Amino acid sequence: MTGAVYIVFEGPEGCGKSTQARLLAESIDAVLTRETGGTQIGARLREILHDVDVNDLDDHAETLIVAADRAQHLAQVVRPALAAGRHVVSDRSVYSTLAYQGYGRGLPVDEVRQVNEWAIRDTWPDLVILLETNESELAERMSERELDRFERAGVEFHQRVRAGFAEMAAADPQRWIVVDASREKETTATTIRNAVRDRLGI
Ligand code: TMP
Repeated sequence: MTGAVYIVFEGPEGCGKSTQARLLAESIDAVLTRETGGTQIGARLREILHDVDVNDLDDHAETLIVAADRAQHLAQVVRPALAAGRHVVSDRSVYSTLAYQGYGRGLPVDEVRQVNEWAIRDTWPDLVILLETNESELAERMSERELDRFERAGVEFHQRVRAGFAEMAAADPQRWIVVDASREKETTATTIRNAVRDRLGI
């Protein structure tokens, strides 16, 4: 593939996404960014989303807030970087919304996709790296920190999210790579680096 590419990491909380996104970005000299909260406006939106005192946020409103974060992020960070010839590595993307608000909250996935198609204006990720970790490891990492609004959403919610990610990965194998992230972080990073080279030629 020639030109700048947009690579995203997806997976459950505590799977090591942020670390792996940083390591990949360093190794391919990409702009490292994130959703939600990759812009100043996004950081303000993220405060609402993660606030444990917010307990009456409607699922549709939640979906529009993450889509608003994304519209701003793509306009302000991702598209300008790609246009300048820089690769972009993002910690989460539109697929988190399909997984969390669609599969997790139970909103119709097609409707969530339509709202996002409008918000992202065709800037779909070129490659999605889905990190998978076993349940017990995730539970251990979760127990080490204070949980936010999403992390408190319950075991079944998170199982639906994980199943949603797996389903999307299986349906679109050209765009998705599933990586076992339960190993040493250096081993996982090497696997990801090799996969990116194989898939995208960078
Ligand atoms: P993270 O910043 O630790 O990855 O956590 C972000 C949380 O926000 C995570 O629980 C998933 C959630 N989220 C959504 O529900 N929808 C989205 O579109 C995005 C980007 C994140």
